[in-house]
Amino acid sequence: MIPGSMSAVHVSQHPLVLHKLTRLRSRTTEPITFRHLVRELSQFLFYEATQDLKVEPCTVQTPLAECAGTLIAEPIGLMPILRAGLGMAEAIHDMVPDAQVWHLGLYRDHQTLKPVTYYNRLPSQPTIAVSFILDPMLATGGSAIATVDMLKEWGVRRIKFLGLIAAPEGVRQLQGAHPDVPIYLAALDSHLNEQSYIVPGLGDAGDRQFGTS
Ligand code: PRP
Ligand code: URA
Repeated sequence: MIPGSMSAVHVSQHPLVLHKLTRLRSRTTEPITFRHLVRELSQFLFYEATQDLKVEPCTVQTPLAECAGTLIAEPIGLMPILRAGLGMAEAIHDMVPDAQVWHLGLYRDHQTLKPVTYYNRLPSQPTIAVSFILDPMLATGGSAIATVDMLKEWGVRRIKFLGLIAAPEGVRQLQGAHPDVPIYLAALDSHLNEQSYIVPGLGDAGDRQFGTS
């Protein structure tokens, strides 16, 4: 974790994350395995990013006795950025089945590299207390910043970004624009290439999940 006045950046050091990320990066990994690895990595990162969820005490009746328990006490929003965030959302939704999933459609224009929003069906008032933006790749940071802008305008105050791989350029941009948004990653890579792809990265996360390259 890199602390400071900027938002915290958490880069997982867990051996399972490191192992699965290495397999994910490999150019020989087929879409079916790639999707499976995205699922597993997303669940590990979500586990790390939810240490501070609000909980409330309850009692539960086991087959033997009554005992004290704990339940999550706040509505959670999962905000996958289409389309590469879809695989992350499905896996994380399995962990928190009561969460709301609000899809946000953004793509990066290949010429300008600026994010273009094409889908947003958020209702007029926020219905969640904490939201998790899900996108495997944080490259220039344009898509993540546009998404946080959207969520803040909607009225959500607690926002976290979950990604698999980021470039330092994207992390700096997101931190500068939204220093209150913590960033959870499986890896912080070296740099962006001239097409603003993350190096070494994994290529195109959407294409590799959906077999469209
Ligand atoms: C990718 C990725 C992010 C974005 C990151 O999406 O999933 O959304 O690029 O780049 P940025 O940080 O420079 O904005 P892409 O535009 O390829 O869309 P897709 O998921 O539909 O393929
Ligand atoms: N989007 C991707 O899918 N990969 C990158 O490296 C950058 C943006």
